[in-house]
Amino acid sequence: MPQLNLVLRHRDIPGLHELAVYQTNGGYAQLRRAVTELTPEAVIDIVKASGLRGRGGAGFPTGLKWSFVPKGPGQKYIVVNNDESEPGTFKDHEIMLRNPHQLIEGAAIAAYAVGASAVYIYSRGEFWKSAQSFDRAIAEARAAGLLGQRLFGTDYNLEVYTSLGAGAYICGEETALLSSLQGDLGQPRLKPPFPAVAGLYARPTVVNNTETLANVPLILERGADWYKGIGTEKSPGTKVCCVSGHVERPGNYEIPLGTPFKELLAMAGGVWKGRRLKAMMPAGASSPATPGEQCMDLLLDWESMAAAGSTLGSASFIIMDETTDMVWVAMKTSQFFKHESCGKCSPCREGTFWLTKVYGRLNAGSGTTEDVALVGEIIEQIRDKCFCPLGEFALSAPRSTMAKFPEDYRRAVGTVENGAQQDG
Ligand SMILES: Cc1cc2nc3c(=O)[nH]c(=O)nc-3n(C[C@H](O)[C@H](O)[C@H](O)COP(=O)(O)O)c2cc1C
Repeated sequence: MPQLNLVLRHRDIPGLHELAVYQTNGGYAQLRRAVTELTPEAVIDIVKASGLRGRGGAGFPTGLKWSFVPKGPGQKYIVVNNDESEPGTFKDHEIMLRNPHQLIEGAAIAAYAVGASAVYIYSRGEFWKSAQSFDRAIAEARAAGLLGQRLFGTDYNLEVYTSLGAGAYICGEETALLSSLQGDLGQPRLKPPFPAVAGLYARPTVVNNTETLANVPLILERGADWYKGIGTEKSPGTKVCCVSGHVERPGNYEIPLGTPFKELLAMAGGVWKGRRLKAMMPAGASSPATPGEQCMDLLLDWESMAAAGSTLGSASFIIMDETTDMVWVAMKTSQFFKHESCGKCSPCREGTFWLTKVYGRLNAGSGTTEDVALVGEIIEQIRDKCFCPLGEFALSAPRSTMAKFPEDYRRAVGTVENGAQQDG
């Protein structure tokens, strides 16, 4: 199955980041059509009928999320989640740099659909330079009368703003993002109330991922049936897959959902240096490591991945060759989650700290079988006890590597225990 560039259309249309080129290729025509010809309900119905699901990780139906926003007057917001902090994820960055108008148009259509007059595009702090491409695109669109007051001669007003976080993984979680955006500490809040009811400044807010919204202009242009014809019945459309690690050609590959993993791997040139695939993590550091021999026939859509006991998440495939030590992988992910734990709840704050301590010993060759058992105990202290999913994410690599790669753990403790036997 070939690649299909919809949100990565810029790869086929040089200069698409410029307003003139974007407009020559149908750009902003769908925003104009929505605002001047369609009711907000009609826009939501088209997005619902397309089956578009959120690309931020959970695959939640986008049109349904929009329909949760209460009707009637009052300030509402669209917030674009451009935080993209998951290790191995770099798709939104490409959209931001090379196809910013498609995201802005999609977010503007979403705003019209839910009755919002402001869009905030929230990017993580490390994007301080690249996020300027949104500022340029917004200024261009505003100067051309495509954003701002009394759009297309109607009484609909819409402003789009950009905002930078300070560079924190947790600020990709939607409630922490909203806290950070309004100037508070970037820590998650309890749900309910959900953002659609009480989000930014306690007003109804839709938080959508960058890739999700970049699909919307094409859905309006070509129709819900066209979109449903791509991918699978329950996971329609394409997915931008980020492929990193031990492959010949790391990068983003946009494929119809339901494509087999082996085809994605082939697009990326296969495992590098002709080596064997030892493991793959399909959704960055927060996803379980799957042994290579179980990966090839996996179909890349939300249902198939869940049925296989895995997750599609943000589709960020970290590829690991036969030389990779999976205890080292679990240590590196534990270090990441310890660093990124926001500290609000103790199971996550303390648990991720202890995971790094014990994995540090195992990797240094000074760990014992008791340490492996201790990892299991710490997992139980974190599991189902955290305020938000970050704690759960931190367990994916430890749990999956212990279950699927026990030989790596045996090797890790072998040095000390063989030495102890010899001493004895
Ligand atoms: C710890 C954590 C980090 C997250 N990071 C991101 C992120 O970087 N980008 C993103 O779009 N969603 C992220 N999410 C998911 C968001 O909370 C939210 O579900 C998503 O932005 C909704 O957009 P969608 O419906 O378009 O998928 C994260 C969730 C958690 C729990």
